[in-house]
This record gives sequence, C-alpha cells and structure tokens, in this order.
Amino acid sequence: MKTKEKLLHILETNKNHWVSGEEAAGMLSISRTAVWKAVMSLRNDGYVIDAVQNKGYRLTSEADELSELGIWKYLGPECRNLDIHLLTEVESTNVLLRQKADTGCPEGTVLIASKQTEGRGRHGRRFYSPADTGIYMSLLLRPERIAPEYSLRLTTIAAAAASETIELASGKAASIKWVNDVFVENKKVCGILTEGSMNMETGHLDSVVLGIGINVYEPEKGFPDDIKDTAGAVFDRVVTDGKNILAAGFLNRFMRYYLSNDFSSYIAEYRKRCFVIGRKIEVIKQDQVYKGVAVDVDENCRLVVQYEDGSSERLSGGEIRLNI
Ligand code: BTN
Repeated sequence: MKTKEKLLHILETNKNHWVSGEEAAGMLSISRTAVWKAVMSLRNDGYVIDAVQNKGYRLTSEADELSELGIWKYLGPECRNLDIHLLTEVESTNVLLRQKADTGCPEGTVLIASKQTEGRGRHGRRFYSPADTGIYMSLLLRPERIAPEYSLRLTTIAAAAASETIELASGKAASIKWVNDVFVENKKVCGILTEGSMNMETGHLDSVVLGIGINVYEPEKGFPDDIKDTAGAVFDRVVTDGKNILAAGFLNRFMRYYLSNDFSSYIAEYRKRCFVIGRKIEVIKQDQVYKGVAVDVDENCRLVVQYEDGSSERLSGGEIRLNI
C-alpha cells in the first residue's frame, strides 16, 4: 500500500474527526512534511480534506468527487486488469479512446471524464455532459473473433449492468428502454454508445469503444431546454462517493457479464427491466414511422416487433419510441 493509501485509511477510520499531523506521521513512520504531501496528493484525487493549524487533518463526509483511487476502492477482482484514467475535461471520451485504440492500446483501457465539451450520443446526437454532475466513461474492448452483431450483445450487457448499478445505489427502480437507455421515474438518466471498428480482412470486430454517460445529479441550472422534459438524474441529494460507487459498480457488473461464458443471466436481467415489452411502439427507419407492438426481446437481445400490418421483425438496432 502506498503512503497516501495508508493515510486515506487512517482518515477514513476517523472520518469527520481531526487527526494531527504528528499522529499521522507517527502511525505511518514518516515525517510531517511527507504527511502533508500525501494530503495534497489525495486532494488531487478529489478527496475533501480539511487542514487546520493545531488540529490537523479531517476527511469530510458528503463529498462526491470522482477519483481513480476512489473508484479502485469499490472495484472487484474482475476489474483487476483495467487501466483507468481520469480526465478533467475532454471533447469526448469515446473519440479519444478510439484514437488510442488505433495506436494499439489494450483491452481494458478506461477513460473517465468529469466534463465533455462534445459528448456524443446515438444517431449523431450530442450527449449533454456538464462538469461534475455526471460520469462520462469509455471502455476499450477487443473481443476475439467476434462478428459485428456482437456489438448489440455488448450494448445490452452495458444497459443491464448500468440499470442494476443505478437501482442499487439510488434505491429507485431503474428500467431499460430498448436498446440501451436507462430510465428512473420516467426520465432518462443514462445513455450508452457503442462504437466498433472492423478488421476488413477477417470481417470481425477489431475493437469496440463502449461509452456510457450517467446523469448523477441535476446540473445547477437544470437540464437544457431540449432535454429538460426527458432527462433526469440518479440522485436528488449529494451522496458521499456516489460517482465513484456508480462508476465502479458499472465496471464490476459489466466485466462480470462480459467475462462470463453464460449470457443467459444477463438476458434474464435485461428482459426483466425492459419496459417496452408488451407496449405499443413506433419504429423509426429512415424517417419513416412504423406502428406495432414490442412482443419480446430474443436470446440475442433483438427486439421482436409485431407490426399493425401483421408482419413481424427482429430489430438489431435503430430507434423506437413508445406510442402512448
Ligand atoms: C445516448 O444516449 O445517445 C448515448 C450517450 C452516450 C454518452 C457517452 S458519455 C461517454 C462517452 N463519450 C461520448 O462522447 N459519448 C459516450
């Protein structure tokens, strides 16, 4: 364990209580200057640590800052090979990771940003990504010899992992609008964008960048007009370590499903949460709208649709909306 991790442990054990520089130095067998350097480094990682002369240091509660160390605290063994990088601001974590993938960076590279200036959504839309109120994360996967249809599998695994994580952290029911939007209390709180790159010689996916955006808190000035009726947030008050818990929870669950050879458990979870099953929907294809009913999600996570004209189809992608 590094000095700063040991110090964090001491401060966490004494959360909201003062630990003097001398006490900490004694416990760690280091100088008081080294304690101060470790405090600065923890602050850099996002921890809120008060420092007062003659009192010492105090880790305060109700702080919710994304940090690499903070995420690692909650990660399980299935994530041990991940290489996580936290960025303060980036155009788009998906775009940056795509560039890194092209230069050969390995599976398991994760970029997480506190703010995106050009966050990308599905169907060429933008994903509103203001500072500090959300999690904007991309994960690089290099599935071996996997056909392009597999990206639907990855997208839906991500939706199942995200909705389970959000529900557990918030205590509010989280459901999925096929294919990968997560809803809480009828508002979208999370979106997923999977971008694959194909190896032209083999026809298989060479790499996949899986991007997930979670609205953890409502922005101070609210959501912009174009999404204010549809967007929501996971928490309605500050939750200590909430962002680190959500980011790690998602990675834990996603990696567990991804590394498992048995996909049936995630399909069951996905179906259970997919609120469009049994509902009237509209399928949008090349600006045309087709009315039907979403009958089921099949074992490959395609949406089974029965159209009004009696025909049926299994959708692997595209856009649907509820026909209320
Ligand atoms: C959608 O709902 O349309 C998908 C949104 C995906 C947003 C995430 S945020 C992290 C990653 N980087 C991006 O630019 N987009 C994805």
